[in-house]
Amino acid sequence: MAIRQVLRMGDTRLLQCAEPVSDFGSDALRALLVDMRDTMHALNGAGLAAPQIGVNLRVVIFGVEKNTRYPDAETIPETVLINPVIAQLDDEIEEAWEGCLSLPGLRGLVPRFRNVHYRGRDEYGALIDRTVSGFHARVVQHECDHLDGILYPMRIRDITRFGYTEELFPDQVLQDE
Ligand code: NI
Repeated sequence: MAIRQVLRMGDTRLLQCAEPVSDFGSDALRALLVDMRDTMHALNGAGLAAPQIGVNLRVVIFGVEKNTRYPDAETIPETVLINPVIAQLDDEIEEAWEGCLSLPGLRGLVPRFRNVHYRGRDEYGALIDRTVSGFHARVVQHECDHLDGILYPMRIRDITRFGYTEELFPDQVLQDE
């Protein structure tokens, strides 16, 4: 029930490998997820990983609602994903611009697998099992990277394609992941 401070790149807690969750349905997990949702929505993010608010657990949330300002933008169902496992479906790589709440105001061109399968648990321990592509696949890969201490700049192939959003996209309003 609180908007939490998001750690920014340079904080070594973002570089840790997070611990699996074993206690599903607990009050502590429920409270963590309330804070994560409040924080993500307050900052207009597309996703958030628990380590970004200083909680070293393998918990991510993500979701992109239909936005009337961007009717063509892809939507992603609001998802809680715990102890996720991602597998690429093929070798197809796609590059696209990403942002992150831990690097406010910046964007980078990041290669990701286009098609992935992911599994994990929701907050009650129920299985989530999806095959996704494109933007959905990108957001999942970005969020799960946070659980292994990886921030998107570490994956940029051409560092000249990294910079301030206002300079790269002067006319757009973009979401952070
Ligand atoms: Ni991020």
